[in-house]
Amino acid sequence: MTILCYGEIDLDIYVKLNRLPTMERSAWCSEDFENIGGAAANSAMWLANWGMPTRLAGHDLGDDRPGDVVRQLLAEQSTLDTRFIARHAGYRTPRCQCLVTPDGERSFITHWPEDVRMTAPSAAMFDGVQLLNLDMSGPTPMRLRAAEMAVERRIPVLINDVYQPEHPLLPLIDVLVISAEVARNRHAENNPLDLAAELMSAGDCHVIVTAAGADIHIVSREGERSKVTPPLVSPVDTTGAGDIFKSGLLYGLLGDLPLWEAVKWGAAAGSLMCQFAGTTETLAPLRDVKALQSSIN
Ligand SMILES: Nc1ncnc2c1ncn2[C@@H]1O[C@H](COP(=O)(O)OP(=O)(O)O)[C@@H](O)[C@H]1O
Ligand SMILES: [Mg+2]
Repeated sequence: MTILCYGEIDLDIYVKLNRLPTMERSAWCSEDFENIGGAAANSAMWLANWGMPTRLAGHDLGDDRPGDVVRQLLAEQSTLDTRFIARHAGYRTPRCQCLVTPDGERSFITHWPEDVRMTAPSAAMFDGVQLLNLDMSGPTPMRLRAAEMAVERRIPVLINDVYQPEHPLLPLIDVLVISAEVARNRHAENNPLDLAAELMSAGDCHVIVTAAGADIHIVSREGERSKVTPPLVSPVDTTGAGDIFKSGLLYGLLGDLPLWEAVKWGAAAGSLMCQFAGTTETLAPLRDVKALQSSIN
């Protein structure tokens, strides 16, 4: 039994700022460090830290210093399978600067996204896989292929950030996580829950709408609606909150919990992560996630 996280992998640079810079006023940085980032890698690192057999693949690495840092940090997780992460000579490892302001919100500078190289999904990559976790942080074609291969094998697919009802990935998905804020920005005229309902019927999938510290809404495949209130926390760094939410959700789904119970695990994991600087610099132990989710009613 393995969870396959297929998608974005990079080296994040956490940059703690007093505010975002403008042309006239520089921002002051009081702390910085590197840690593993990228949507797929974030989810995978947290899952592996809980002892879950996890496979990570998708975006490739270079033979440069950032690539070595990523490989070393991945190797510290004993239940993480990184066999399918390719390494290319002369290729620049993807990097991302995460500019974090005192409210815990983040802005990104993505380095050379147009150069990104990926490893195609293969039959061997799906060996023993029970769940596929995808993200939309990069080119779609190989993600689409991965979803098709999962469907051929009757492996459920979880993804975040699909907002177009006509998106080709949607019919292949079982669980979709979207952000209320992004939904509002992209479809100002739409209530995020109306969009969720539309995506649910277009994809015949469960749709979960997260909204930072506010209520999480669930529109089930059957059309039932429910909500979960995430624990109240003072956020330090919300980079990757959605990715770590998915780690908790996947953990719950693999434990055969009903969807709304699995969502509590997602909320607990996401809320814990927001209290640490960096996305994978500090990995909360499973017992902390368990304790926090049991406090959610
Ligand atoms: N400011 C916050 N306070 C408390 N929990 C948060 C906060 N931001 C994120 N979370 C947790 O992480 C989950 C996902 O956060 P969200 O901001 O919706 O995702 P993203 O911005 O990464 O798409 C939330 O449902 C919540 O559990
Ligand atoms: Mg957020």
